Amino acid sequence: MSEGIDFLSLAQQRYSVRRFTEEPVRQEDLDRILTAAIVAPTACNLQPWHVYVLQSPEAVAKLPDCTRCHFGCRTALLICQNQESSWERPYDGKRSGEVDASIVTTHMMLEAAAIGVGSTWVMHFRPEAVRECYQLPDHEEPVALLVLGYPAKDAQPSPRHSEFRPETELVTVL
Ligand SMILES: Cc1cc2nc3c(=O)[nH]c(=O)nc-3n(C[C@H](O)[C@H](O)[C@H](O)COP(=O)(O)O)c2cc1C
Repeated sequence: MSEGIDFLSLAQQRYSVRRFTEEPVRQEDLDRILTAAIVAPTACNLQPWHVYVLQSPEAVAKLPDCTRCHFGCRTALLICQNQESSWERPYDGKRSGEVDASIVTTHMMLEAAAIGVGSTWVMHFRPEAVRECYQLPDHEEPVALLVLGYPAKDAQPSPRHSEFRPETELVTVL
């Protein structure tokens, strides 16, 4: 684990890891990553999320039915939003579940990076296949897969990692 790294350096160093060693993620690392999920903020603290830890050989073997972006991982997290228990904005009925689940995913992705576990956030999956493979209840919508593992020796950031739109396009000071 990297000690004492400041947050901005961590955010700058993290990249989507798409090549992993064969080693499944160790339990103590998984525990830290899941703790980062549990402390994540959610609207009204309703915590309308559910994470499935895909680590049994049976669960991992189903990933290719759901997505081509599994990168041969041995461990993955499936993050779902609970569509019934999320906060609802009174003005227009917009619900917070997808945002909440995304914050949970971001917390886990960054904690993983902090302790040397590589990850890639995957949205390119077949929702119906995910539902069926992992027997999701109707009120849970899969939001993200976080594929995890220890970076392979030849793991490298993709060229996209360092493509940034200019700050002037992204930020407006009023
Ligand atoms: C919401 C979201 C969905 C993503 N979906 C995928 C995906 O399905 N497959 C994939 O390989 N990468 C996916 N990524 C990773 C992005 O491509 C990656 O974060 C981006 O290109 C920047 O690269 P970096 O993470 O290395 O900095 C996703 C990232 C986010 C935030």
